Amino acid sequence: MPAETLEQLVSLCKRRGFIFLGSEIYGGLQGTYDYGPLGVELKNNLKRLWWRHNVYERDDMEGIETAILMNKHVWKYSGHEETFVDPLVDCKTCKGRFREDKLADGICPKNPKKRPGECEGQLTEPRSFNLMFKTQVGPVPDPESYAYLRPETAQGMFVNFKNVLDSTNRKLPFGIAQIGKSFRNEITPRNFLFRVRELEQMEMEYFVKPGMDEELHEEWIQDHLNWWVNEVGLDREKLALHEHPKEKLSHYSKRTVDILYKFPTLGFDELEGFANRTDFDLGSHSRDQEKLNLTARVAKNEHSTERLTYFDHENNKHIVPFVIEPAAGVDRGCLAALSEAYNEETLENGDVRTVLKLKPALSPIKVAILPLKKNADEIVNCAKSIKKTLQAKGNMRAVYDDTAGIGKLYRRQDEIGTPFCVTVDFDTIGRSDDTSLQNTVTVRDRDTMQQVRIPIAELLNYVTERI
Ligand code: GAP
Repeated sequence: MPAETLEQLVSLCKRRGFIFLGSEIYGGLQGTYDYGPLGVELKNNLKRLWWRHNVYERDDMEGIETAILMNKHVWKYSGHEETFVDPLVDCKTCKGRFREDKLADGICPKNPKKRPGECEGQLTEPRSFNLMFKTQVGPVPDPESYAYLRPETAQGMFVNFKNVLDSTNRKLPFGIAQIGKSFRNEITPRNFLFRVRELEQMEMEYFVKPGMDEELHEEWIQDHLNWWVNEVGLDREKLALHEHPKEKLSHYSKRTVDILYKFPTLGFDELEGFANRTDFDLGSHSRDQEKLNLTARVAKNEHSTERLTYFDHENNKHIVPFVIEPAAGVDRGCLAALSEAYNEETLENGDVRTVLKLKPALSPIKVAILPLKKNADEIVNCAKSIKKTLQAKGNMRAVYDDTAGIGKLYRRQDEIGTPFCVTVDFDTIGRSDDTSLQNTVTVRDRDTMQQVRIPIAELLNYVTERI
């Protein structure tokens, strides 16, 4: 049975060390989570897969890592100071605060069976609430020395467009990719990793000639849809596309399509967005905009020192590229991968085993080496030496574990998604009647629970081929 509620995942994540509530021992900080020993491996694996697919395996992409704190003018000309807002309403009775556009998903704090406003409480008129966190820069409090914690990684790529272009001599179309933290002061952070205040994003800005934008927009949607299925292992049936209605598009977008995933408890909701941002961003961060022939309406820029243009050799003129932006959340990606992988299976003997059927490339631990007897020195030494070899030559996370009986150890590894368990026993060290089994080990497959006996010398190949 797959996970039916987010609570099942929250419980597994806490129990096994994937994800903890942020600052838990002080009662937590709403909208923040800490990734534990296994969570950090899962998250790094997801980011690695994304980077490999979008940067290494392409010939038209550059990676970048830009500062979280940026000049305040970035957020003025990006439009965030004015438009990165949610409609906030307060309940005059319980003092609860809610997003007016999400009241249907809200819960009355006094009466959890009711929606806000459906109890006897009275809601205020909505007012705009800017989601950016503001902070002071420098030691002297001065109303002008402020900055924001970035609410998206995108702007770091736009303002570096010229730097990347000049230092790499790229031709259109090409893209810049970035993975990094963003911060949003969400009015109602909730649903575990789904809506948090400190999040991580995997975003790219793909610069194209105007006129090529619609076709390439479509290509990216299909490419990433396939990536979520083939590499992250999400079920295509649990993915859907959502076209934003024209009247609800962000100020920069000509067309936006979201990939939705069917999360437990929540149902279909956004995993990744694909916006056609036209020439809005490069145009709005440029000086001398009146000379640029922009299609987007932008505010006059009095602070930028650059024109963010590209010299089109075919037509012998400077143009402002259009931008296609695939933008995914790392935390939502982890939540989707965990939701998809979670399974409760009833075994033939009636026991229930929880198993995380993660794609091996995402599994925090690739192999667990388990000695059949923990007080037999030869077995223990052999197991530890196998672990060392896999770790060093296979560059993979392998663990040695002798803290319980073999059945319990298998269950533990199933629950955290380890694709292979290797057992070292008396046959391995040549202490049984069957000497043909000397220097062989048993490898157990997480999903089928089938076991095969293979020579230690073939183990590294066996595992690497399958992860
Ligand atoms: N640069 C465009 C941009 O930031 P977005 O749709 O606001 O677009 C992109 O964010 C992705 O970031 C979303 O599809 C989602 O996966 C993730 N995301 C956004 N806000 C989030 C939040 N509060 N908590 C977790 N993930 C979030």
